Amino acid sequence: MLAGPENLVEARRQAVQAALDSSKSAAERNRLGQFATPNALAIDIARYVRLVAGRLLSPVRFADPAIGTGSFYSAALAVFGRQRVESAVGVELDAGFCDAARDLWAQAGLKVVQGDFTHIVAGPRRPVAPNLVLTNPPYVRHHHLGRQDKERLQALAYRMTGVRVNGLAGLYVYFLLLATAWMEDGGYAAWLVPSEFMDVNYGAALRRYLTDCVTLIRAHRFDPDDVQFGDALVSSVVLVLRKALPPPAHAVQFTFGGTLGEPHASDAIPLQQLRESRKWTGYPSHARNDRRRSSNGDGSTLGDFFRIQRGIATGSNKFFVLDRCDAERRRIPKRYLRPILPSPRFLTTTVIDADKDGYPLIERQLCVVDCDLPEAVVQTRHPALWEYLQTAEALGIKRGYLVGKRSPWYKQERRDPAPFLCTYMGRGSDQKRPFRFIWNRSQAIGTNLYLMLYPKAGLARLLLSHPDRAADVFALLGQVTGHELRGEGRVYGGGLNKIEPGELARISAVAFVERWPELGSAVPRQGELFGERGRESSPQRRAG
Ligand SMILES: C[S@@+](CC[C@H](N)C(=O)[O-])C[C@H]1O[C@@H](n2cnc3c(N)ncnc32)[C@H](O)[C@@H]1O
Repeated sequence: MLAGPENLVEARRQAVQAALDSSKSAAERNRLGQFATPNALAIDIARYVRLVAGRLLSPVRFADPAIGTGSFYSAALAVFGRQRVESAVGVELDAGFCDAARDLWAQAGLKVVQGDFTHIVAGPRRPVAPNLVLTNPPYVRHHHLGRQDKERLQALAYRMTGVRVNGLAGLYVYFLLLATAWMEDGGYAAWLVPSEFMDVNYGAALRRYLTDCVTLIRAHRFDPDDVQFGDALVSSVVLVLRKALPPPAHAVQFTFGGTLGEPHASDAIPLQQLRESRKWTGYPSHARNDRRRSSNGDGSTLGDFFRIQRGIATGSNKFFVLDRCDAERRRIPKRYLRPILPSPRFLTTTVIDADKDGYPLIERQLCVVDCDLPEAVVQTRHPALWEYLQTAEALGIKRGYLVGKRSPWYKQERRDPAPFLCTYMGRGSDQKRPFRFIWNRSQAIGTNLYLMLYPKAGLARLLLSHPDRAADVFALLGQVTGHELRGEGRVYGGGLNKIEPGELARISAVAFVERWPELGSAVPRQGELFGERGRESSPQRRAG
């Protein structure tokens, strides 16, 4: 632990951090990626790196490319000791943090460079290469990066590491690649980053880099139910790596929950298995892991029994979705209106019955305008609808991306009502399910906030001959656990879960076959339908 003066500096740092944090709104800090690492966690991380590096980090040449007020430098001093630190550099974009870090740590050997790390690492001001990087880079999401900046970052990452970064990746992906390229060969790094990249398609290049170009030693995810570090870490992972090609039989330690020193679950995953895994958050495969996979790839899955499709994207729900009574008052012809479910937020029931017109028996009945007649025909034959459509101009609806591509612009995607739906996004940890299944006995379709489940194959035949079994199907869907849903879906910063049709399709449906064994006979092996994705193009195999 810190002894002597640094102890006092750390206390001062925490006060300065709190003052700087409170001077900005949460939204502003979010845009700038400014969430500091709790010092206790930074110390845990530094200790673990010291443990795995053994004597190799003597002396330490420290760097944090996004230093903030220096939580990680404070931890490095506490764990490695001032004498062992030969050099230390922190880069920081924000002038306030930069001054604070200088003020706090200059006397303890930290050189603070003000500027954008992604420029500095590629320019003449690039400081001496570190052999130890401990950091929590900015979590700036891709849509906060300008187009030109993104292109610059992509070109730079490719030049320095051979990795083609997907445009949907956040700033932390570039930080990790560029800083690793900058590091000394054989150096160690620990990164506290969002766990998103472990599951999503745009994380594939980084996953490949971590399996092929460096030696990933450890990946520790926090348990969302464990509030020791507050909400900020709900969806974070600590990656510890060495800048060296991995030994042939290398296995990565995946841990979950508890602390880095005492995780609740742990498993060593061979690199080859990781390379072939579509998602990494399912490791370690342990009952305590909130995202363990529900299906091992052998049994039937929901995709065997349901065709799953997102609901419709209208291009502007505000314009195209109306209260049924409003549409009737405007005398819009019924045949150009379709019942549609309200947003899941406003749906208080999971079983939806219908009135005599097929509209859901719920308080607020909604309909979507959907017509495929050309404008000239609407104008002459359906003046009331025409009059409503005219109001789109002033609202700018026709200039929208989706609407602009459609012909005619008020024609919606084709969807039949689905007897079952699943909400597309939501929150929920541990036993609580982030998504809800809905039994839809009405003629309503859903917007893209829902996934629509159409029974197919044996299940469609079963329901055709025994419509009363729909209740059993709904009950079986109700048995899918929160763990399974999270395991197949993906989690975003702040703990928001989403699930795409292909992901829902991979959830185990073994319970369906147990209930109706005849369903099992016609089901092809899951691997044939949803085999692991082909290997994406590999970054150049090099450690830099
Ligand atoms: C998530 S905070 C972490 C701060 C510190 N490393 C810690 O662990 O407490 C990220 C820091 O990076 C800074 N930052 C954002 N963009 C940057 C950039 N392009 N170059 C350098 N620093 C940047 C932010 O101002 C913020 O202080």
